[in-house]
Amino acid sequence: MSKNIESHLTEERTFKPSKEFAKNARIKSMAQYRRMHKESIKKPATFWAREAKELSWQKKWTKVLDWKAPYAKWFVGGKLNVCESCVDQHLTNGRANKAAIIWEGEPGESRTLTYRQLHREVCNFANVLINNGIKPKDRVMIYMPMTPEAVIAMLACARIGAVHSVIFGGFSADSIVDRLEDCEAKAIVTSDGGYRRGGVVPLKQNVDDALKKYRGIETVIVHQRIGTEKAPVKMKRGRDAWWHDESAKAPSTHKAKAFDSEHPLFILYTSGSTGKPKGILHTAGGYLTGTYTTCKYIFDMQDDDVYWCTADVGWITGHSYITYGPLANGVTQVMYEGAPNFPDFGRFWKIVEKYNVTIFYTAPTAIRAFIKAGNQFPEAHDLSSLRLLGTVGEPINPEAWMWYHEKIGGGNCPIVDTWWQTETGAIMISPLPGCTPTKPGTATLPFFGIDAAILDENGNECKANEGGKLVIRQPWPSMLRTIYGDKKRYRDTYWSDYPGQYTAGDGARTDKQGNFWIVGRLDDVLNVSGHRLGTAEVESALVAHKAVAEAAVVGRPHEIKGQGVVAFVTLKAGNKSSEALNQELRNHVGKIIGAIAKPDEIYFAPALPKTRSGKIMRRLLKELVATGEITGNITTLEDSKVIQDLQAQIKK
Ligand code: WTA
Repeated sequence: MSKNIESHLTEERTFKPSKEFAKNARIKSMAQYRRMHKESIKKPATFWAREAKELSWQKKWTKVLDWKAPYAKWFVGGKLNVCESCVDQHLTNGRANKAAIIWEGEPGESRTLTYRQLHREVCNFANVLINNGIKPKDRVMIYMPMTPEAVIAMLACARIGAVHSVIFGGFSADSIVDRLEDCEAKAIVTSDGGYRRGGVVPLKQNVDDALKKYRGIETVIVHQRIGTEKAPVKMKRGRDAWWHDESAKAPSTHKAKAFDSEHPLFILYTSGSTGKPKGILHTAGGYLTGTYTTCKYIFDMQDDDVYWCTADVGWITGHSYITYGPLANGVTQVMYEGAPNFPDFGRFWKIVEKYNVTIFYTAPTAIRAFIKAGNQFPEAHDLSSLRLLGTVGEPINPEAWMWYHEKIGGGNCPIVDTWWQTETGAIMISPLPGCTPTKPGTATLPFFGIDAAILDENGNECKANEGGKLVIRQPWPSMLRTIYGDKKRYRDTYWSDYPGQYTAGDGARTDKQGNFWIVGRLDDVLNVSGHRLGTAEVESALVAHKAVAEAAVVGRPHEIKGQGVVAFVTLKAGNKSSEALNQELRNHVGKIIGAIAKPDEIYFAPALPKTRSGKIMRRLLKELVATGEITGNITTLEDSKVIQDLQAQIKK
């Protein structure tokens, strides 16, 4: 039994939102939540149509949902430009001169863009893309640091109907190549570099390296974030252009044309159980409705809030809860470029104090790192502006929850522990801050319109405290539409366990009050610092090294990162294990995938434990790294001495 399950069986601490919070919140009582949830499940079309109406549509839909499992179309016949809801509408609703983005660079500079300024920048960059031959449905890759230009580039793509695919700036050149090949992108928007922990990440250099292998890119637009001294770049004639040069040539007005509600909005790659990342496709109308609605109710965004989500735009959290959802709500948000511990672990709290952040959304892994760094950092700052806290990305352990509640929230901010995925597009299970009683470690109850359940192997609903698979039984607007270019994988991965129902890939259970407790992934996907990482991806990176014959990768519990990466490697004849090779392999994985994938530990073994049919027994390796022991059945093992050898090594 995992720690999480144990803690929830005994977790008695319950926290209720204060009367004052409830009074001003959109959803004020559990009765109101239950009534609305019931309606939203019984009549999803009524619920979602009411929400979608609050967005800007150029043409209203004729049908809310067309569902031919597993393919959904939402707001059929409707036409909109996503950018109008996120930006243009605020020019006429009184928010034109309100701060949309308050940006802070890692070195400390600060810049504010009002909605009117954001509009001008987005229109201008939309024209830049058009001038560079980008047409609706063309794929544009965005590989940028956390600067407003990343958001501007995303919105500009949306504005002209191009499909963006953002790659996290921590990914390597090889990872860029894989994704470019998969989505056949035509253009890349990047920067000369980005600041991270005082250093410069050479983004343009990585793009250049990637483009030695992928030839389909016609245009690279480079935003100058750093400058030539610290980030010299080579510009290839006829292919590369500076953002500022292109911008100067383009007008700053652009009329937003409407696209079909099901027009593709973006492709975002995420890890699955094979070595090949999945290109998750989201479409315009439904995705916007989902992100807008969840921001409104779960973050309870009000006009005088200052909201800050610390995710990177390279992940789904940055897409849904930096770019689309918050802007569609017209909120003021803080965006920060750099690392949480630069120059020290006080940085986040300094930012909260400086800008009077009211809603703060981060990941459990960050919270655990803060706990370790010490209370002196938050204690040095006035955090009293905060009214609501959120977490995302992995199960939050009760210790981290309590620390967040007490040290950051001062004991009186509700915490919304939000469960969702790249595939779901928007938050699926979460407390509503004005009404839901919370307990440390549970994401609590399904959001409106979300019919979540835990099923056993036969498709029967599990009883309270019985573990099973987390499924969603009805379609929802922000659900993925497919895996780009791979319908079969889409059907097999998400829709084959229980016909017509979405399998999330997470194990979970509900308690007696119906709260959902997420245990973790059931597939070969790790969650390292809140980032999904396929064990197969790391394995294929390892075996791409000339010395490696075979590799098996498993996760182990890790104090800060949630899960750490452990690799077992057998070497090709003529190679010897050594500390130097260990380092070399770690760097090799970093080079092929990105730093987040570097194994924490590598064990060299003469052979890997296999079944008689030749399958690597990862289950044993997992148990071994977690506990140092093997308790389960090993009779199917081909050679049991292999395990004893490994056990001895790990003990050492
Ligand atoms: C995990 C991130 C427990 C889960 C938005 C899911 C969580 C995967 C939570 C998706 C949470 C995310 N509690 N587990 N609040 N949020 N997860 O696609 O295993 O990067 O399947 O999306 O993260 O990760 P992804």
